[in-house]
Amino acid sequence: MATVVTLNNGNKMPLVGLGCWKIPNETCTQQIYDAISVGYRVFDGAEDYGNEKEVGEGIRRAIKDGLVKREELFVVSKLWNSYHHPKNVKLALKRTLSDMGLDYLDLFYIHFPVALRPVPFEEKYPPGLFTGEADAKAGVLSEEPVPILDTYRALEECVEEGLIKSIGVSNFSGSLMLDLLRGARIPPAALQIELHPYLTQERYVKWVQSKGIQVVAYSSFGPQSFVDMGSEIAKATPTLFEHEVVKKIADKHNVSTSQVLLRWATQQKIAVIPKSSKKERLRQNLLIDKEVTLSEAEIKQVSSLNKNLRFNDPFTWSEKTPFPIFD
Ligand SMILES: NC(=O)c1ccc[n+]([C@@H]2O[C@H](COP(=O)([O-])OP(=O)(O)OC[C@H]3O[C@@H](n4cnc5c(N)ncnc54)[C@H](OP(=O)(O)O)[C@@H]3O)[C@@H](O)[C@H]2O)c1
Repeated sequence: MATVVTLNNGNKMPLVGLGCWKIPNETCTQQIYDAISVGYRVFDGAEDYGNEKEVGEGIRRAIKDGLVKREELFVVSKLWNSYHHPKNVKLALKRTLSDMGLDYLDLFYIHFPVALRPVPFEEKYPPGLFTGEADAKAGVLSEEPVPILDTYRALEECVEEGLIKSIGVSNFSGSLMLDLLRGARIPPAALQIELHPYLTQERYVKWVQSKGIQVVAYSSFGPQSFVDMGSEIAKATPTLFEHEVVKKIADKHNVSTSQVLLRWATQQKIAVIPKSSKKERLRQNLLIDKEVTLSEAEIKQVSSLNKNLRFNDPFTWSEKTPFPIFD
């Protein structure tokens, strides 16, 4: 089992979880079941990943077989961009709960601070980057005029109704966090951001932590996940698994480079949610806290690889209608 932290609302969350993005529908139920049997308790899903039915089925099967109880799991999803309007927030959350076959989520993030024109479930679900046929033909994305605080307040109501235990935000930068904290009644419990040795964001991470908000890193292996997506910039970036600084530290501790990359984060109290489809990797990724402890100097050496290099950026979603959320 991974080390467990207490969030600012008293709920407990293990520092290592399983990322569910790109787990294929055909194998997803079994992978979630296997991950639970290996010891995973956090499942980081999202409406946009298109596999919530299968994630839920794996969870329910494991509960039914007595591997785990629902209250021992920490189930996460994310509100997609198309449902930011307060009237759609609960609808989208209920769709997730019904797809997963669960009564509540432990954590529900706003996936991106980008509000897109809603698409009815019957037309396309999950809609991804689709805001209607006309927009698709014109190569644009239409926005919906909803300020982030309106969306957030609808999530606060979902906490009060017991549908979610914690609210999180994802891909929020500093100025938006400042604004949100001025207006939130229930402070966010977690911030999920892209974070790896090529994008360390040390100043921001420390500030967020000082506000009592748990930082969760996604894409801990840097370019790897985006090479899978065919990204040219990711393909042109040296893999972190073979980086000589990371390799030297891994060899010294007799662990894998992936374990060094994950432990570098958890030792800074940053949670991680690596995705893997391989059983041996699932085990390695989960056991980092038991198998390796880096020295302060080694953490600094890994941090020094920073290039402020981001692979997941909504500015690239549409050439004609980019979203400069990180500029
Ligand atoms: N909030 C957001 O906007 C956002 C964006 C991106 C991701 N996320 C979340 O973060 C999770 C993790 O990020 P990610 O999926 O982008 O990528 P990631 O976990 O950094 O990398 C996954 C890739 O690394 C490989 N891998 C996993 N463990 C390995 C190991 N021990 N050794 C070597 N290779 C290994 C996987 O291959 P195999 O499967 O073949 O093992 C896969 O190709 C996602 O699944 C999702 O839940 C959130």
